[in-house]
Amino acid sequence: MSDLLVRPARPEEYERIGELRVRAYIEGGVIEPDLPYVQHLREVAEQAKTADVLVATDAEDKVVGTVVVAQPPSPEAEIAKPGELEFRMLATDPEAKGRGVGQTLVDAVLEQARERGLKRVVLSVADHNDRAIRLYQRLGFRRLPERDWSPLPGVDLIGYVLDMTAEAAAGGSHGQ
Ligand SMILES: CC(C)(COP(=O)(O)OP(=O)(O)OC[C@H]1O[C@@H](n2cnc3c(N)ncnc32)[C@H](O)[C@@H]1OP(=O)(O)O)[C@@H](O)C(=O)NCCC(=O)NCCS
Repeated sequence: MSDLLVRPARPEEYERIGELRVRAYIEGGVIEPDLPYVQHLREVAEQAKTADVLVATDAEDKVVGTVVVAQPPSPEAEIAKPGELEFRMLATDPEAKGRGVGQTLVDAVLEQARERGLKRVVLSVADHNDRAIRLYQRLGFRRLPERDWSPLPGVDLIGYVLDMTAEAAAGGSHGQ
């Protein structure tokens, strides 16, 4: 999708962002509708107090995707250690899937890491979330098994990291 822009979310967009996330996660088969995590996906205003909520917008400034970017000691940073940036709750509006929105948002996270002078970007993903895992691997993320964890019985999250020092040494991970 051309004409995509990434910018900080505006407070009046928080409610819509929450609903976009819920639709993306449920329709994408990432979570079951009755899990308490669904409520967490709606808590955008709370997350925005200690983390950055970014949106991707199309040519009409319609929000088509979103991601949360956090750094310790924000409670939104679940696995990041000092010196690392973490992103969470990456979501693309189901109607806009497969057009580069996810990749554009992850690229924006990597840009934030560079601006903050951070060398590592980390994330957790459900072990069955093949679509998201493909995206992360394509962008150069590697498994970080020592950060695998389970927030709830039956929910297994696996860690990934992009080491930007290694990426720079290799001449970039995806031709940018
Ligand atoms: C995971 C998720 C964010 C990916 O979003 P997306 O916007 O569809 O991602 P992209 O468009 O960048 O990439 C998805 C696919 O589209 C393809 N694509 C990207 N740009 C494209 C374009 N311009 N034309 C055609 N295909 C394109 C990519 O190659 C990729 O293909 P693949 O799945 O076969 O590898 C989205 O599916 C989602 O919201 N899922 C539910 C929530 C979720 O799982 N979040 C992550 C939790 S860790």
